[in-house]
Amino acid sequence: MARPKVYVTRRIPAAAMGLLQERCDVRLWDEEDVPVPRAILLDELAGADGAFVLLTERIDEEALAGAPRLKMVANMAVGYDNIDVDACTRAGVMVANTPGVLTETTADLTWALLLAAARRLVEAQKVIEQGRWRAWSPMFLAGQDVYGRTLGIIGAGRIGAAVARRARGFDMTVLYHNRRRRPELEAETGARYVSLDELLASSDFVVILVPLTPETRHLIDEDALRKMKPTAVLVNTARGPVVDEAALVRALKEGWIWGAGLDVWEKEPIGPDHPLLGLPNVVALPHIGSASIATRTRMAVVAAENLLAGVTGRRPPNLVNPEVWERLREGGGPRG
Ligand code: DGY
Repeated sequence: MARPKVYVTRRIPAAAMGLLQERCDVRLWDEEDVPVPRAILLDELAGADGAFVLLTERIDEEALAGAPRLKMVANMAVGYDNIDVDACTRAGVMVANTPGVLTETTADLTWALLLAAARRLVEAQKVIEQGRWRAWSPMFLAGQDVYGRTLGIIGAGRIGAAVARRARGFDMTVLYHNRRRRPELEAETGARYVSLDELLASSDFVVILVPLTPETRHLIDEDALRKMKPTAVLVNTARGPVVDEAALVRALKEGWIWGAGLDVWEKEPIGPDHPLLGLPNVVALPHIGSASIATRTRMAVVAAENLLAGVTGRRPPNLVNPEVWERLREGGGPRG
């Protein structure tokens, strides 16, 4: 069997690259932090059996139309809103993601943001850096308590559950809202299932952990923000477009809510002129939820294993559209 041709859209850890190079002819967009230009991506996909992509690459009808050999797209992320999965399924292209391996790391970062926003850590560091710390004062940089408060988790998947587990250490009441109830999560953490409206009205910390879908786009809009407590903190480590940023700017400026910790943005990357950055009650991060060395390495290896399986006739472990695999097994035949 000829060696499969795969395209990798960014420099990835050696452990993952090594796996691919053993079995495939690999072409690479050899940059550390610059996404491959769209025209080059389309050109490279034209001759590829498989693609290793990041959430910065859009795989849509246009990309698939010019890629007749493509059988497999492996996304190095758990979220895959950058990929038109329905279009891939129609085109007979398997899609896989990297669930599980980033759960705990992303839950840690969610808590880091929550604590930083509640206790004004970034603002406090700026006060020192700018020489504005004059003396200990009674209400100087006073923030919100976390322990004993109410945490509301929107989206109780793997990461949501890991965030709920950590809340026990802070003696918190945990509420959650999800597409379906999770009795095992309730038993393990004492989390209580509530409607979205109840969660927004009752939580001191509202954490967003839903995937981006047509249903969750702007789930947190003006209406939702106005339902929150004026002392509440919003934390988003899921996808930026779940929050209407224009409404959030008003909510933070006008005191409908107290603060926000944001790792993700409606349109990434953002620059220093983004309207949310000027606000003292925002802690802003550049989409680093899963960015520990161990986890990013593991994500790259898992994506490489998915890709390798898909281009060598095995079922990729983390397929998101298994119907394509079933069709292939029933004799639908590979593309190309
Ligand atoms: C994901 O995996 O979806 C994150 O956003 C990046 O870790």
